[in-house]
Amino acid sequence: MIINQSCSMIIFGGTGDLTHRKLIPALYHLMYQEMLPEGFAVISVGRQKKNNEEYREELYQSVLKYSRFPMDKTIWDQLCEKIYYRAFSFDEGDGYESLKADLQQMDQVHHTRGNRLYYLAVSPENFAPIVEKLKEHGVTAKRGCWQRVVIEKPFGQDLASAQQLNNRIGKVFSEQDTYRIDHYLGKEMIQNIMVIRFANTIFEPLWNHQYIDHIQITAAETEGVGSRGGYYEKAGALRDMVQNHLLQLLAITAMEPPGKNEAEAIRDEKVKILKAIHFPKDSIVHQHVALGQYRGYHMEEKVSPQSTTETYVALKLFLDCDRWKGVPFYIRTGKKLQQKTSQVVIQFKQPDKTFYKECESGCNPNLLVIKIQPEEGTLLQFNAKKPGNLQQILPVGMNFCQNCNLENNSPEAYEKLLLDVMDGDASRFTRWDEVENAWRLIDEISSSCEAALVEEYLPGGWGPEGAQQLIERSGHRWWNL
Ligand SMILES: NC(=O)c1ccc[n+]([C@@H]2O[C@H](COP(=O)([O-])OP(=O)(O)OC[C@H]3O[C@@H](n4cnc5c(N)ncnc54)[C@H](OP(=O)(O)O)[C@@H]3O)[C@@H](O)[C@H]2O)c1
Repeated sequence: MIINQSCSMIIFGGTGDLTHRKLIPALYHLMYQEMLPEGFAVISVGRQKKNNEEYREELYQSVLKYSRFPMDKTIWDQLCEKIYYRAFSFDEGDGYESLKADLQQMDQVHHTRGNRLYYLAVSPENFAPIVEKLKEHGVTAKRGCWQRVVIEKPFGQDLASAQQLNNRIGKVFSEQDTYRIDHYLGKEMIQNIMVIRFANTIFEPLWNHQYIDHIQITAAETEGVGSRGGYYEKAGALRDMVQNHLLQLLAITAMEPPGKNEAEAIRDEKVKILKAIHFPKDSIVHQHVALGQYRGYHMEEKVSPQSTTETYVALKLFLDCDRWKGVPFYIRTGKKLQQKTSQVVIQFKQPDKTFYKECESGCNPNLLVIKIQPEEGTLLQFNAKKPGNLQQILPVGMNFCQNCNLENNSPEAYEKLLLDVMDGDASRFTRWDEVENAWRLIDEISSSCEAALVEEYLPGGWGPEGAQQLIERSGHRWWNL
């Protein structure tokens, strides 16, 4: 099959942070590696008044600052001559009329073949209005070419608002052409989880309740909410992180092998996991959730002094399926914690019998740690004899660090994801039923947690005391590796 990647990319939010820090550097990296299609152009839309030259100069500065490759002026010039800036407000019909004409011109000048990649790098309340305006002004009316829309997170704030948004988008773009981005899914090690599981015979046969004791999924940040207080007050850790990144990680870790390495097969399996997660509605809720708020959160910009928004959440979840019968999945995420890290820890069961005295009260557990960021790699911990005459057993680790030796060698998630959209490959984007089932669960957890205490925790530690109790109650401990 010949994939026609040529396209015009229309960035709504062209003056914003995401465009400057991620999207344009990602395009530069693709250009650097000769991975952008020949026929390509960018039209960026924002409100600020500026001409193409001024806009290109600003982007140049951002690429200098954020690129993982050195600045090569020849390559930059090749990219920059394909980038245009248009200033109009999203509610101005005239802006869309000129956009339509500009796009036709791009087809002539840059051979973009009528294909369009609309990237909504804007705040969520603008998603549906922009898409509706595109239709109203006939921008999306072109036939015989592809037209795809990329929608940033968050996709809704709860199930009802996500459904409404989806209905509005669905009147203009089919599900197949709607790419809900979760940049976590473009990260190297997340893609690697499937390879580790399905391309090795040493792991997949053990990947079930017979051999796995429990699984821990962590996304810890050292930063506070910064300037995002206004948004965060309405979201909290559960809606900001668990609904998308952490549930996606859980689904990829726990899913059955998909029949094929194809978008629909993979997403079908993830949906089954999202549907299988259950959360208790009764009096034992407090044994399954711990909420926290870092000391000083009240003083952050745009945060209410009475806020009870959680900046930390830990959950203990079970899956209703044979493979994971009785296996707890602990997930936790928080701000202002001791270390920035995202990882999955798989703790294996103890051997049934052992004749080693040192293991009478339990050997050190076997762990497989999948490190997602900032370090990318895997660690396998197992037991070995300490050298010497005495019989001593020690935990040892085999560490594979993907990004330790070659600095910045991993492609940024956005590079991979932008290429995926041009290729029409949605494997690493969330399908509507994934979003829907994730929101259903989060709404359920959120209403069960209404009475749960939001405990204060000190910045620089590992979260509230309740999170320790949550895991220790089951005889486990958090691994901060
Ligand atoms: N920043 C990140 O690292 C990041 C990471 C993950 C997801 N996201 C998501 O990406 C989206 C964009 O985030 P951001 O941080 O880039 O936001 P931002 O810095 O606030 O940028 C917003 C952009 O929207 C434009 N805009 C707003 N209202 C407009 C209007 N009425 N008409 C025309 N343009 C308008 C702004 O243009 P003017 O400045 O010209 O007014 C600006 O270009 C959000 O959904 C966010 O959740 C961002």
